[in-house]
Amino acid sequence: MIKAIIAAVIAGFAFGAFAGDSTVTQGKTISAGKFTFAYSSDGANLIASVSAPVAGWIAVGFNPTSVMKQANMIVGYMNGTTGVVVDQYGDGMFSHKPDTALGGKNDIILSSVTRDKGTTTMTFTIPLDSGDKYDSKLIAGENVKLIFAAGKTDDIAKKHSMKATATIKL
Ligand code: HEM
Repeated sequence: MIKAIIAAVIAGFAFGAFAGDSTVTQGKTISAGKFTFAYSSDGANLIASVSAPVAGWIAVGFNPTSVMKQANMIVGYMNGTTGVVVDQYGDGMFSHKPDTALGGKNDIILSSVTRDKGTTTMTFTIPLDSGDKYDSKLIAGENVKLIFAAGKTDDIAKKHSMKATATIKL
């Protein structure tokens, strides 16, 4: 199930709705600690999945300046049997809020959260450049700093039990 979702993200733009777009990039998968991150882009959007062996919330942040500060965060959790994914922003080194609570927008185009035998997977599509000041502009060919975190429960107000960082080239 998880492998299938990740494979779908990687294959996504090559064979999916955006096939034929000359700016399609081939999907890539990286590991950071116990997190697996798969991503591809069609030149306008990033389509990604993040997965970790936790039965709780899971998040990825783009381009923090320090710890979590100024990161564009995508945070997912299960509300009962429904997956919820929220566009957030690191408004301090150790604090983050929904973009909408700061006067910004929720720019997530598509998203899902699934849980299978103690592993949680979030998938999402976001614009590379949403225009929202609470999102980080992602530029093809440039390095992007990533932070990952996950919690033991679905309470996103509770601190992570697992975290990692990585750098990717889009
Ligand atoms: C639930 C709210 C959160 C709280 C209260 C919180 C708190 C903290 C604190 C106090 C630290 C300092 C180091 C430590 O004590 O482990 C930290 C580090 C970190 N947090 Fe969070 N955090 C939260 C959510 C998040 C989210 C959503 C992400 C990812 C998108 C994240 C990613 C990280 C990373 C990667 C570090 C380590 C940074 C480094 O080593 O440079 N945190 N967090």
